Amino acid sequence: MKNYIPSLRMVLLAVLAVAVNYASAQTKNDAIKMNVFVTQLMSKMTLDEKIGQLNLVTMGRAITGSVVNSGVESRIKKGEIGGVFGIYGAADVAKIQDLAVRESRLHIPLIFGLDVIHGHRTIFPIPLGISATWDMDLVEQSAHIAAKEATAEGLKWVFSPMVDIARDPRWGRISEGSGEDPWYGSQVAKAMVKGYQGSSMTNPDAVMACVKHFALYGGAEAGREYNTVDMSLIRMYQDYLPPYKAALDAGAGSFMSSFNTVNGMPATVNKWLLTDLLRKQWGFKGFVVSDYTALNEVTSHGLGDLQTVSVLALKAGLDMDMVGEGFLTTLKKSLNEGKVTLQEIDMACKRVLEAKYKLGLFNKPDKSIDPEREKRDVLTDDNRKFARTIAEHSFVLLKNQAQTLPLKKSGTIALVGPLANNHSEMLGTWVIAGDPEKSVSVMDGIKNVVGNNVNVLYARGANITEDSLLGARAFALNNGQIKDKRSPKEMIDEAVETAKKADVVVAVVGESANMSGESSSRSDIRIPESQRDLLKALAKTGKPLVIVLFNGRPLTLTWEDEHASAILDAWAPGTEAGNAIADVLFGNYNPAGKITATFPRSVGQIPIYYNHKNTGRPYSGKGPAKFKSDYLDISNDPLYPFGYGLSYTTFNYSDVKLNKPSLKGNEILKATVTVTNTGKYAGEEVVQLYISDPVASISRSVKELKNYQKVTLQPGETKEVAFNITTSDLKFYNNELVYDWEPGQFIVQIGTNSSDTHTASVQWSK
Ligand code: BGC
Repeated sequence: MKNYIPSLRMVLLAVLAVAVNYASAQTKNDAIKMNVFVTQLMSKMTLDEKIGQLNLVTMGRAITGSVVNSGVESRIKKGEIGGVFGIYGAADVAKIQDLAVRESRLHIPLIFGLDVIHGHRTIFPIPLGISATWDMDLVEQSAHIAAKEATAEGLKWVFSPMVDIARDPRWGRISEGSGEDPWYGSQVAKAMVKGYQGSSMTNPDAVMACVKHFALYGGAEAGREYNTVDMSLIRMYQDYLPPYKAALDAGAGSFMSSFNTVNGMPATVNKWLLTDLLRKQWGFKGFVVSDYTALNEVTSHGLGDLQTVSVLALKAGLDMDMVGEGFLTTLKKSLNEGKVTLQEIDMACKRVLEAKYKLGLFNKPDKSIDPEREKRDVLTDDNRKFARTIAEHSFVLLKNQAQTLPLKKSGTIALVGPLANNHSEMLGTWVIAGDPEKSVSVMDGIKNVVGNNVNVLYARGANITEDSLLGARAFALNNGQIKDKRSPKEMIDEAVETAKKADVVVAVVGESANMSGESSSRSDIRIPESQRDLLKALAKTGKPLVIVLFNGRPLTLTWEDEHASAILDAWAPGTEAGNAIADVLFGNYNPAGKITATFPRSVGQIPIYYNHKNTGRPYSGKGPAKFKSDYLDISNDPLYPFGYGLSYTTFNYSDVKLNKPSLKGNEILKATVTVTNTGKYAGEEVVQLYISDPVASISRSVKELKNYQKVTLQPGETKEVAFNITTSDLKFYNNELVYDWEPGQFIVQIGTNSSDTHTASVQWSK
């Protein structure tokens, strides 16, 4: 009889199977309903109306290129426009949506998009900063809050996440991504998509994500914006493609093609990329939009006139044309000339309409824009509170000699630097709806956190830059930098006098928000010279010098590392910048961020990344050596390696313990370390797991990140941190691009950053 009583496990499995079947039946049902709806709608559409759906325009304001679109309102009524971006606000969006829904022949709603990159109204740290949190709950929540604010203002589509892997900090858009690592970038990509899209894109607080830029934009040669990308397939699959795939697997509804060429073919007309890889290999079912006038720019890449490149793009799998109106103005002609087929136009139109359906836009789109929500859900106290928390978690303590930080909540501070008493620079690059006036300056933050207990003396000390070329180009969109009229010497002298009266100097320096992001490549990635001169003068006073660094990329900080007492990397922290910085400076929060992109010693080392190959003549790192893979004039090591970041406390790692010395097949390896807080403060530590595969059928990276855990430890507390490792952690793309693992020896490495690990070896057979 006993044999016939199902175990609890069996019952649960059966329930799960029913649930899965039910869910997949539901999904199938939904897909059928969508198909019927869209097919019926398309049967009523004229060719012009179908082509209109492929047209995405701005409302006359240039964002990241020239203004091309005009007469938008009347053309919406004619059905020549499928989507609009660049406007937000419940009333404005509702007004435009009304034109489509009430006045166009078939009442097809528009899709409204925007570059919501790191928050919408409440601004969070720049994405590179967010990635330094190593906290996927925070990452997801940041996207969710952004979606909530964006939908309250009528938007249903965001041009985010940007998941381009970047190993070259000269490239300004490294600020918009999650750094250099494919595995870590994939975790962030997933969390962002989940945060934006929620459990269903029809939820009133959910938007559709647009994964960008497909693909490999971060591989631009020499870090120069929009530059050529030429890359081996193995590198592509192993190191650059995983985050796009992870975002797709998380359900991302749309992709944006990138500006660059991929092995000779511009991404926007690259059939291999947009169809063979994205749709056939990976199974993407959503739609692909071009980047801003990227279709028109294919002519500059040398592939022909607008009609020719529009044909190429449609055939390659591009569904929507951003701003350039190449599809709108040429596809009908191309159809008449037999250069494209109606099926190809239908396919693109269907994908755009399906996206609108998935967003619930056909269901009373104008009614879904609720002005009350705009009042209730935007820039709320809770959102600001979250912005403060995520900013604190994003900061990375790069140096802290003799425990200069945290500062005492008494005495006198000299607060200096062009970013110390500044609102407009707090938000960082790519902020469309964020209001700099609502941001907290560092000066105000310090007052909020320590009140009158600390005497704060202020001197600006320097302009952001005195370099006329850098200044003019970086501030081109602001009509130039607003500068203090005094000479650099006068400003420095005042700062030095101020420093002499204080116990400690806090210098808030670095890049302007305009120096990173799109079209902001730099060949010299030091702090601008005017501010370096200020730092040198301050260092000479002999007072402890704390640098609070603003930066949209890894900078070369060799001088600062040698001469400052402490360096806190604050990136660009967002709306709550000053409060978050003050919380950390005065020890209300103990920093735990870790960098996700390597900081080089010099631009000459770029590209520099931790998961590089060994070479046939690796340099041991010791002494002068001839015929080794090194430089004559600098070490191979970065200044700060991937995964690096200090705490106000210290952590001690034990050796790595493995539960078995050898494994077979699908067995699970358990690797354990104990981590002890050996300092005086409670703190969080990101315990990182790397694996290396010393012998394989191709040359492998020296190590690869495979997992991490963030643990909180009280002073004196010890915790065991265990990782389960399976054969999927050992897989890689071999020479035939087959993703598999190969038996042999593996080195398990666990530590506080990519360079400082404890290791143990294991044998794994098939
Ligand atoms: C950028 C995209 C952005 C688009 C729309 C382009 O210049 O590359 O990231 O989404 O403009 O603003």
